[in-house]
Amino acid sequence: MRPPVALALLLAQLLHVAGRPNPLIVVPGLGGSVLEAKLTDAPEFRDCQTTSSDWYTIFFSISQVVERFKCWEERFALTMAPDGDSHVVQSAPGVEIRPRDFGGVDGIEYSNSGSGDWIPMPYMKVMVEKLEQDAGLVRNTSLRAATYDFRKAGDWASTVAQFEALQGLVEETYEINEQLPVHLLSHSLGGAFTTAFLNLQVSEEWKEKYVASFINLSGPLLGTPITMAALLTGPVYDYVPQILPELLVPVLRTAPSMVWMSPQDSDVFPSDLPILTTNTANYSAKDLGAFLDDLDAPLMSAVWTDGGVEKLRAASSMSPGVPHFCAYANDTETGLTYQYAVDNLADAGSGKMLEVTMGDGTVTLGSLERCLSEEGGWAGDLVEHKVYAWGGGMDAHTGIVKYDPLLDDLVAYLNRTDVWRTQA
Ligand SMILES: *[C@@H]1O[C@H](CO)[C@@H](O)[C@H](O)[C@H]1NC(C)=O
Ligand SMILES: *[C@@H]1O[C@H](CO)[C@@H](O)[C@H](O)[C@H]1NC(C)=O
Ligand SMILES: *[C@@H]1O[C@H](CO)[C@@H](O)[C@H](O)[C@H]1NC(C)=O
Ligand SMILES: *[C@@H]1O[C@H](CO)[C@@H](O)[C@H](O)[C@H]1NC(C)=O
Ligand SMILES: *[C@@H]1O[C@H](CO)[C@@H](O)[C@H](O)[C@H]1NC(C)=O
Repeated sequence: MRPPVALALLLAQLLHVAGRPNPLIVVPGLGGSVLEAKLTDAPEFRDCQTTSSDWYTIFFSISQVVERFKCWEERFALTMAPDGDSHVVQSAPGVEIRPRDFGGVDGIEYSNSGSGDWIPMPYMKVMVEKLEQDAGLVRNTSLRAATYDFRKAGDWASTVAQFEALQGLVEETYEINEQLPVHLLSHSLGGAFTTAFLNLQVSEEWKEKYVASFINLSGPLLGTPITMAALLTGPVYDYVPQILPELLVPVLRTAPSMVWMSPQDSDVFPSDLPILTTNTANYSAKDLGAFLDDLDAPLMSAVWTDGGVEKLRAASSMSPGVPHFCAYANDTETGLTYQYAVDNLADAGSGKMLEVTMGDGTVTLGSLERCLSEEGGWAGDLVEHKVYAWGGGMDAHTGIVKYDPLLDDLVAYLNRTDVWRTQA
């Protein structure tokens, strides 16, 4: 658990050094927060456990997914909230899920912390170490992470609660760091999440007081086509091992965050660009609602009908009005349109990529380059922009968080005092 603020304050005073750097909070991507579960009288299912003595790592756990897949799926997939609840989705009955080490960095260094897996799955580990060693940040005090239940991001009521937690963490971090404004560093979905947070949750005065800048790595601010393909045939996030990705489809089809990450009707994904084609239908970004209905995944349709996710998507496509640093890789072929030779989406097995464009393997360049655009007010707030040649590897989207040139640029950026707010 987090130390109480008074204790943390004392610690901060003891650690005080002249020229203390502005603190930084990481907002990780889809699949980027370790999630812990606790079971209390969960319904009987096969030979699965129904009660756990303590919290255990449910995401990610190679051993559970490989050895106990059906149990893992049953406990991890979201379910429909009862009628009249402000939430559209909720965790499965008898299951509580929380992000690991909110406010620390133990939930982002490895994707499978606490799982007992033999093979560690590093996610932000290299970045955390670099920021400690070269930027003078101190874990738990000036280097922290806002881990969140990424499955539920996009469900309005869940997301508002996550925004409140992030707001509290920023305010606390500011207080324990001599009232220095805080950098928010996001990756992937975390970029959309942070942008919506800054646009919807907090005021201009709040941003001026608390936010030093927004550092946005591989942010899909307009969504990305691969998400629609993943809803059909499985994920391609490289920090989730590609063990039978199709197996994960039923779980993905319960996560509102997948709707958030789907392409948005815009000049980048226009209505005459059929992102996904079957024998009987063309789906452009504008047809997302029809696509979700045809998937025959009631939870996805319910999330869409609720409308909350549209508010979040709109808010994450507009500049949040704080200085920002935008970075991504741009030379990997990335799926733009997909074709499935079936009549019904529900029958889709594997499809094929029809057209590719450049991007980072996950997000297409049009969405990545949004930070350069006047549209949405982005360009005016841009203070640093870095594009990396990756050499075509499919891992560019997530590999960037451990890429030396980016890490060096990041440290140099944090050491600047002229482009972002050093003091309120
Ligand atoms: C950071 O906090 C976590 C718990 O939140 C604790 O396990 C860990 O030891 C702390 N690390 C440091 C360096 O204080
Ligand atoms: C899908 O769009 C293509 C043109 O992009 C068109 O030729 C085709 O007839 C459309 N298919 C359906 C089922 O509407
Ligand atoms: C990637 O960005 C670099 C630097 O801006 C540029 O020279 C290069 O042409 C870009 N590549 C693609 C495929 O857009
Ligand atoms: C975040 O990055 C994405 C992709 O690189 C971009 O579309 C968006 O405009 C960026 N936003 C900010 C605030 O830099
Ligand atoms: C930060 O900037 C100062 C002054 O320009 C310089 O002396 C120092 O080496 C820089 N530190 C890093 C880590 O770049």
